Amino acid sequence: MKSLTKQIIFGLALLIVFCIQDIQAQNLMTNVFGRHILSLNGKWSAMVDQYNQGYKMALYQNKKPQGKTDFFEYSFDGALQLNVPSDWNSQLPELKYYEGTIWYGRHFEGNVDNEKRQFLYFGAVSYRCRIFLNGKEIGSHEGGFTPFQIEITDKVKTGDNFIAVEVNNTRSKDAIPAMSFDWWNYGGITRDVMLVSTPNVYIREYSIQLDKYKPEKINAQVVLSDKKPNSNIGIEIPELNIKLKLRTDENGIASTSFTAKKIKRWSPDSPTLYTAIISSVSDRIEEKIGFRNLYVKGTNIYLNDKPIFLKCVSFHEEIPQRKGRAYSEADAAMLLTEAKALGCNMIRLAHYPQNEYTVRLAEKMGFILWQEIPIWQGIDFTDASTLIKAKSMLAEMITRDKNRCAVGFWGIANETQPSVERNKFLTTLLQTGKSMDTTRLFVAAFDLVRFNRDKKIFEMNDSFAAQLDVVAVNKYMGWYQPWPLDPKDAKWNVTPNKPLIISEFGGEALYGQSGDETVASSWSEDYQAKLYKDNITMFANIPNLRGVSPWILFDFRSPFRMHPANQEGWNRKGLVSDQGIRKKAWYIMHDYYLKIK
Ligand code: GCU
Repeated sequence: MKSLTKQIIFGLALLIVFCIQDIQAQNLMTNVFGRHILSLNGKWSAMVDQYNQGYKMALYQNKKPQGKTDFFEYSFDGALQLNVPSDWNSQLPELKYYEGTIWYGRHFEGNVDNEKRQFLYFGAVSYRCRIFLNGKEIGSHEGGFTPFQIEITDKVKTGDNFIAVEVNNTRSKDAIPAMSFDWWNYGGITRDVMLVSTPNVYIREYSIQLDKYKPEKINAQVVLSDKKPNSNIGIEIPELNIKLKLRTDENGIASTSFTAKKIKRWSPDSPTLYTAIISSVSDRIEEKIGFRNLYVKGTNIYLNDKPIFLKCVSFHEEIPQRKGRAYSEADAAMLLTEAKALGCNMIRLAHYPQNEYTVRLAEKMGFILWQEIPIWQGIDFTDASTLIKAKSMLAEMITRDKNRCAVGFWGIANETQPSVERNKFLTTLLQTGKSMDTTRLFVAAFDLVRFNRDKKIFEMNDSFAAQLDVVAVNKYMGWYQPWPLDPKDAKWNVTPNKPLIISEFGGEALYGQSGDETVASSWSEDYQAKLYKDNITMFANIPNLRGVSPWILFDFRSPFRMHPANQEGWNRKGLVSDQGIRKKAWYIMHDYYLKIK
């Protein structure tokens, strides 16, 4: 087939399927926690479906034998009980490595009310799923780290209802992430499940954010469901004496900009949040919202008109002591408290959008956030369906967190290699992101910094980097790359006219293991500590360095990490061990951050 025809088909495929995906993402309601919700968390019945027979058997119909000759080779009654939310890997030893399908099922009491609309809302399901209500398929989702909702207004019954969820976490070439990634492949209904009810015409979306540059100008937009036109909308921020009356246009949208005097702008040192109340004729939602300015000027990143140095750290969405996914407010508190103790003002939520408890608590505690979708290393940039998924994940992440002033950065890629296809893919992704959010900075992490032996300088050559607001590099000097010169003589010339963040650096150490600080294979705390000291020495010579982020706060689980003594399935680059104990390098990093004002 001629290449032109192929390109036309490719473009059409992209357009059609993306529109569907995009509508799905765009319909995601803002601030589910501010609505009338009934939690469906708790013990769900579950069946392991290793050969994917369940869908063919229609086990989601949850049939029971009627006569003497009936029988079914499944039953949710008497089945395995799994906690929701939680990954399945950490719930049973037999499921530690399980990659495949597990069916979840539970009953819930429904109540049909003509004055209400009802939705099933999932915080996340890893990695793909199909949803069934009372024996009928009602929806599906792909992507293990973003929320989705399905309207069940005309499907739910008064009285007993049965929901079944087919969950599959098998890796695939066209997935995001794809076939291999340096974290555990947790499967399951890993975040909250809620039954949400709203008025028939409800406030579907809203955004209330300080203008990117103007310290007293607030931009607001409220979207009513069903594009309800000419309808009254109220926006109140009582502490700022704001009480506005708006009307929706022919698309059901009410937009406005207004000034507010004496706003105490949000910052890590003073994470001020205001109560915002959004109302319509039949709906009312409240939440805490912060106001801050964040922009780039030259090689500086400005927060509230002052240059800021980002004292960052990464963590995975995992509680190492439990060997499982983090999913609760208590989990968020544990991870964030350790980051606060380290002296951080920013968190890179690696390598995927993390749960809303973590994002909201980080905002309350005063952390700037880098959130990213898991475009991690080996993604198939030639596959049209992969680009559609990436756009959908990005749209879902932005739609969920666009009112979180703590979110300063949207990350669109990690360690992708330059190619025509990759550049086209990421350029399209960047355009999608910028079309949805003009107030935050777009970033990507590269592992392309090389030491030029002739010029004796570190440099990077990647044409795509110029499109980003901020460039980030992962550079493991002293671990994956031995020092080619004394760290104090290390000079960098990487994207010199943009702000640069070192988004990953570090090395492994088994907590409690001492050894020669010059021998990497000692896997010792002494070696890791020396490595941190050497990197901190090098940082002083990077002229446009505006932030650093050690990889990583806690040891974390990974199938990559197979050394029988030093790793045992754990990546040991944590500053804190899997038992929550700080290593020597933690104190070196803490002192470094303490000295930065
Ligand atoms: C990469 C990658 C991380 C990974 C780390 C490591 O930079 O971004 O996800 O865990 O290196 O090798 O430990």
